[in-house]
Amino acid sequence: MSGLVTQSRLVTLEGGEGAGKTTVLHALRDALASAGADVVCTREPGGTPLAERIRELLLDPNHEPASPQTELLLMFASRAQHVRETILPALKRGAWVLCDRFTDSSYAYQGGGRGLDPELIATLEREVVGIRPGLTLLLDVGVDEGRQRARGRDLVPDRIERERDEFFERVRAAYLARAAAEPQRIRVLDASRPAVEVAAEAVSALRTWMREAA
Ligand SMILES: Nc1ncnc2c1ncn2[C@@H]1O[C@H](COP(=O)(O)OP(=O)(O)OP(=O)(O)O)[C@@H](O)[C@H]1O
Ligand SMILES: [Mg+2]
Repeated sequence: MSGLVTQSRLVTLEGGEGAGKTTVLHALRDALASAGADVVCTREPGGTPLAERIRELLLDPNHEPASPQTELLLMFASRAQHVRETILPALKRGAWVLCDRFTDSSYAYQGGGRGLDPELIATLEREVVGIRPGLTLLLDVGVDEGRQRARGRDLVPDRIERERDEFFERVRAAYLARAAAEPQRIRVLDASRPAVEVAAEAVSALRTWMREAA
């Protein structure tokens, strides 16, 4: 396999910790379901039994930290399995797939955050993943605010949530740079607003995309 195929029915949610990705995903799922669409909701890392095991390894703070390279390859190992076992079969039968994080997260976290070469990530994306979403909603919120929201929800932070603010500032900057480079695919939503407003704008962006992609 080589090259990147855009899958118009693959819609991904991106953004930093506590930006509201999972909240928005539920609103998109409800909008698609009430339009009578077949919809599959999934997440990364994870999305298959094996990939969820890889997620546990990645987020567990109780062993020595993964090197950036290890983290990158585990993320792509999870994604390779997820694409083949869950995403492609769903797309093949005509379903919409809503995915909480996808390859843009690797550019933002392992690229921007950890400083790995984006060319290496691009090679893995092309050779291992092979697909890219038709629409990506990037939920952008200040690092402090997102972290506060996530802290309000999680009792115990996972390994990546324990990183310092500077790490998440680099992640945010890398996301925004990707959105600027691919404005047709990546829609930036101001996620500092109340959840209902963010969800309404996300649903409206999805409806517009459904008409364009039809
Ligand atoms: N726009 C918003 N304003 C205020 N609070 C919000 C907003 N969106 C979500 N929240 C709340 O903030 C917390 C984090 O939201 P959510 O779990 O959807 O974020 P996330 O981006 O999926 O986070 P993570 O990266 O940790 O998975 C939740 O408690 C949620 O109810
Ligand atoms: Mg979430």
